[in-house]
Amino acid sequence: MIRTTFLSTGMRVPDRVVTNDDLASIMDTTDEWIRQRSGIEERRWVEEGEAGSDLGCAASEMALDRAGLEAADVDCIIVATLSPDHFFPGTGVFMQRKLGVSDVPCLDVRNQCSGFLYGLSVADAWIRVGQYRRVLLVGTEVHSTGLHRNDAGRDTAVLFGDGAGAVLLEGREVDESDETAAGLLSVHIHADGRHAEKLWVEVPGSKYDPLITHEHIDAGLTRPMMEGREVFKHATSRMPEAVREALDANGLTIDDIDLLIPHQANLRISQMVQRALGLTDDRVYNNIQRYGNTTAASIPIALHESLDEGRLSPGGLLCLTAFGSGFTWGSALIRW
Ligand code: COA
Repeated sequence: MIRTTFLSTGMRVPDRVVTNDDLASIMDTTDEWIRQRSGIEERRWVEEGEAGSDLGCAASEMALDRAGLEAADVDCIIVATLSPDHFFPGTGVFMQRKLGVSDVPCLDVRNQCSGFLYGLSVADAWIRVGQYRRVLLVGTEVHSTGLHRNDAGRDTAVLFGDGAGAVLLEGREVDESDETAAGLLSVHIHADGRHAEKLWVEVPGSKYDPLITHEHIDAGLTRPMMEGREVFKHATSRMPEAVREALDANGLTIDDIDLLIPHQANLRISQMVQRALGLTDDRVYNNIQRYGNTTAASIPIALHESLDEGRLSPGGLLCLTAFGSGFTWGSALIRW
């Protein structure tokens, strides 16, 4: 049977560091409030003209380089982002052009903080049916330009950051009975649209004619809106649930997990997920302190850094889980 394996990872965050004190100088907030509620100490923001496709491209080039491959060796590009360079076309084609390849299919995935897992699910299905052998899967976000960096937007402006992470996936033939064979064991994804407006940006939207007006802007409808407590409540129950679902599907238990990488939404959320699962600190990876919430990019960035820090050895069991706007959520299990 064919199994999806991870060849390499890459990441890119903008050079510009924005500390909590920097935010406190432009909006009514404090370093203490942000640290206490979210664990975030600093995040990165792009410089003018630096796009999500640029970050995604740099992360991809690092992943390709580490695998000893070139962009031309990739059969398909999947880009997860909630902050595309433009309304259309998707960020994938801009990245493809910057990578210098043509006639490679590009799919844009719009599933916010769960975008990386949704993209992984599609990539895995394509790889296992033999449609594509090598898939470049990227999560890239530029939040800073969409955040309302003022008092009215402080509840979300302090949480999100810019960045990109990439993984290079390849289908490999493995013996079905070999339980130790490296690769993706499963991906589970979910959604519950009843909560769509609990974390969203209403405008611009083609539902309106025209899709954006001065009145919309004046009414603050272009601002990311979040019911923070609802998001918190659902995130802390859905992620442990999804981890257990993945373990059950593979006949494994929590004791088998060597490393859990939760989507980096909020350190308090990650800590509650960790507690719910009974995992020790050394078996959970967090880096939100340095980057804030980079939505679709948070898992591949955390995966890249955890590997570089030697947190996962060959043969180890890696678990990914995410939760975000939609609501959407999911989990993946990977034998490393
Ligand atoms: N700085 C200072 N004060 C702030 C603030 C900021 N950046 N943002 C909001 N506040 C204020 C509020 O106005 C409120 O003031 P009030 O009591 O005078 O009305 C007070 O802080 C408490 O706000 P509240 O929203 O009740 O705080 P909370 O304890 O629920 O924490 C979050 C807010 C956003 C940190 C928390 O709900 C959370 O982490 N939610 C999940 C967010 C998330 O992870 N989103 C992404 C999911 S993928």
